[in-house]
Amino acid sequence: MLTIALFGVPNKTQLLTATAIDKIPKKPQKKIEIPLNCTALRLTKTCPTSYPTTQERLELPSPEICPEYFRWIHEDLRPWAYTGITRDMVDRAQKTANFKLIIVNGRAYMERYHRAFQTRDVFTLWGILQLLRKYPGKVPDLELMFDCVDWPVIKSSDYAGPNASAPPPLFRYCADDETMDIVFPDWSFWGWPEINIKPWESLLNDLAEGNNRTAWMEREPYAYWKGNTAVAKTRQDLVRCNVSDKQDWGARVYAQDWIRESKKGYKQSDLASQCTHRFKIYIEGSAWSVSEKYILACDSVTLLVKPRYYDFFTRGLMPVHHYWPVKDVDKCKSIKYAVDWGNNNTQKAHAIGKAASEFIHRELKMDYVYDYMFHLLNEYAKLLRFKPEVPKNAIELCSESMTCPAKGLEKKFMMESLVKSPSDTSPCRIPPPHDPASLHTMLKTKEDSVKQVDAWEKNFWENQREENKQG
Ligand SMILES: *[C@@H]1O[C@H](CO)[C@@H](O)[C@H](O)[C@H]1NC(C)=O
Ligand SMILES: *[C@@H]1O[C@H](CO)[C@@H](O)[C@H](O)[C@H]1NC(C)=O
Ligand SMILES: *[C@@H]1O[C@H](CO)[C@@H](O)[C@H](O)[C@H]1NC(C)=O
Ligand SMILES: *[C@@H]1O[C@H](CO)[C@@H](O)[C@H](O)[C@H]1NC(C)=O
Ligand SMILES: *[C@@H]1O[C@H](CO)[C@@H](O)[C@H](O)[C@H]1NC(C)=O
Repeated sequence: MLTIALFGVPNKTQLLTATAIDKIPKKPQKKIEIPLNCTALRLTKTCPTSYPTTQERLELPSPEICPEYFRWIHEDLRPWAYTGITRDMVDRAQKTANFKLIIVNGRAYMERYHRAFQTRDVFTLWGILQLLRKYPGKVPDLELMFDCVDWPVIKSSDYAGPNASAPPPLFRYCADDETMDIVFPDWSFWGWPEINIKPWESLLNDLAEGNNRTAWMEREPYAYWKGNTAVAKTRQDLVRCNVSDKQDWGARVYAQDWIRESKKGYKQSDLASQCTHRFKIYIEGSAWSVSEKYILACDSVTLLVKPRYYDFFTRGLMPVHHYWPVKDVDKCKSIKYAVDWGNNNTQKAHAIGKAASEFIHRELKMDYVYDYMFHLLNEYAKLLRFKPEVPKNAIELCSESMTCPAKGLEKKFMMESLVKSPSDTSPCRIPPPHDPASLHTMLKTKEDSVKQVDAWEKNFWENQREENKQG
């Protein structure tokens, strides 16, 4: 049973939330639920002390091995594999961090340095608190620095060479080949209230349902993209591939007008209703874009414009198997070729779309997002060469302290993504690191597939030119 205490006169959303919670059907088996106790928070102004910090239930063994992309956890932490992580290294990561997260005895604390853009920090911390509710007593003591800004900042070249100091370990949402920031799932898995993107678990269901609305063959035989064009030059470039009365590159490009859509309740940006084209374009914004998972979940073939950044799961995607690679330069021609190829080879194209949506629905389900966080934090904590401590000016965080005072969509999304009970299984088992040879082979295979597509594409356009000459 969930207990929600409302402060003062409840507003409409709070009432709705409370009613919605009453309706949550009781599970047939006896699951221990950890109640949210806003009364306790109000009375004592501290987080409840009655939280379980150990998992009392009998656990079923979890024989399952985590998805392949979990192997990257080892790679991301490799810079500290021999040195370990000292307090000095963590301190040095404070330079750009929004907050320091401290976990001691299963309880979470934060030292805040700067507020993040919108509610990125709030929902990231909320996600970590839910991890603690899912696996009470399992997440080890740690201290870590987190930066919520888009771009990675720990340049590998600054820490190379014989006299180099060890890099500061800094968590954020993405990195690239030149940086060593440690990638962590982004806030949108728990919701993005500013643009009405709901928590991943329920959105994933909507997407599955949206996917069923139009069979692949019945979808528009074009490549769809909708987004904010202002954030990157490459996106403005993409607008030039839009259909016009002079040419058709097979692309249908729409600019998202957030202000207008926010006034209309974001109905037109409803992600589940966007599975209507055979192809969907993914293109980075100012850095990686949270939209990638929504695009891949649609069964449509993702035309992936050569990305620079990776997040925690995208390194598990294989070109031509999960997506179709599109060049960053000369993208219109690249898109045109991809669309033509897919419409000529509908079975193969549909299979690519299907492989991507299966990857998203299976390997990126919320349970795995938590397991990824768990293993990353667990492996990170193993490297610490100091005893984590709660700093004097840190504040304790708990689900109550975040959700009881929250309002509107923020509160709604928190209640929707609340982990109600400890997991009755252990986290999946993390696969071992890639051995260097197989990692090399995998990267080479990826590179070769991209080159292969590039060669087909070149060939296609050369033939077109020949035909034009002859014709
Ligand atoms: C909530 O906390 C109050 C005050 O500590 C306590 O009396 C009450 O039993 C708690 N409720 C639940 C459901 O745990
Ligand atoms: C590294 O340090 C040593 C000893 O201080 C010095 O002789 C050498 O020039 C340094 N090398 C580089 C690349 O800075
Ligand atoms: C989608 O359609 C399939 C096959 O008709 C069905 O088994 C599945 O339950 C549907 N899924 C959703 C989410 O509607
Ligand atoms: C792309 O073309 C379509 C159809 O003409 C149009 O509705 C849309 O606004 C165009 N997109 C942009 C970003 O100009
Ligand atoms: C698609 O098929 C048409 C007609 O057979 C052909 O002219 C065109 O070259 C094909 N395009 C691709 C990319 O395979």
